[in-house]
Amino acid sequence: MLKEELTRRNLPPLRTKEEMLETLLREEYGRMPPAPQYIIYDVQQNIVNRFCAGHASLHRVTPRCVVEGKPFSFPFTAAIPTEGEKHPFFIHINFRRDNPDRYMPTEELIDAGFAVLSFCYDDVSRDNDDFTDGLAGLLFPDGKRKGDDPGKIAMWAWGASRVLDWALTRPELDPARAIVCGHSRLGKTALLAHAVDERFAIGYSNDSGCSGAALARGTRGETVGDIVGRFHPWFCENYYKYAGRAEQLPFDQHWLIACAAPRPVLIGSASLDDWADPISEQLAALAAGEAFPVGLVCPDRPAQVGELLADGLVGYHLREGRHYFSRHDWKQLMAFARAKFGD
Ligand code: GCU
Repeated sequence: MLKEELTRRNLPPLRTKEEMLETLLREEYGRMPPAPQYIIYDVQQNIVNRFCAGHASLHRVTPRCVVEGKPFSFPFTAAIPTEGEKHPFFIHINFRRDNPDRYMPTEELIDAGFAVLSFCYDDVSRDNDDFTDGLAGLLFPDGKRKGDDPGKIAMWAWGASRVLDWALTRPELDPARAIVCGHSRLGKTALLAHAVDERFAIGYSNDSGCSGAALARGTRGETVGDIVGRFHPWFCENYYKYAGRAEQLPFDQHWLIACAAPRPVLIGSASLDDWADPISEQLAALAAGEAFPVGLVCPDRPAQVGELLADGLVGYHLREGRHYFSRHDWKQLMAFARAKFGD
């Protein structure tokens, strides 16, 4: 019945990664801001005594970048296990600066052998329609954008790559096991970061819904019209013309997931999160699978509550409950990461 539903959604077929990414950037998120010409890092080491019972160090890092000849910086935190080398690590694009945070159980991640680096999206450019703020102001000194100029999601995804730049300089972190993740609007951001930056080994979207993991065509939740009505700064202006016309999109969101191939992607939904529309997320994961040597391996039915489908390079899980980035979601993500890394 999933396969029949996919046929009814009448999706544009997958294309090459170059074509898909080019279209998504031009028509939905906008072009990525340029990588910095130059970065140095200010690092405040061990900002909390005996962090995680002494099993981790917490550092505050400020990358000082030069982008298009102009200075830009934002802070992030890095919680890294004290023992051992070459840890797998998460880059969590978060709503707050806190580490730990209600969306990020740092101590449990540390105890499981993962490091977690995290930044607050507002520190890259605030979540509003002010395009003179933060990175946006550097790119658009008069605050005005046009056409395929980046929206805020593209800027936040750019921030994740800057955190990764630093991580790759650290011997405690394994450059081959970087995972980018986020919840809701920041799950959309994590999927984009994973699609554009091939240094990420795994991407995780939690409850990202419309313009993230969920198909636009046939959605029962938020539509393109809803999202560009209320959250237009997240996208490029070219996207606005698809409000109420999702069937005319030259892509659908399975393309975003497919752009990660062959690097693994996990999509997480919550059973009571109708606005993000779990079935449209599972269908996108399924449809993206053709781009991977092994895509989403699942029975021909909606996932059951509590189920983790992790046999392919595209994974899917459905948690019981509401829109939230919960410990259960992190546990499923860790299980998926371990399976894909062969740990
Ligand atoms: C709103 C929006 C969603 C978004 C969510 C969030 O509900 O409609 O698209 O994912 O906010 O980021 O919390």
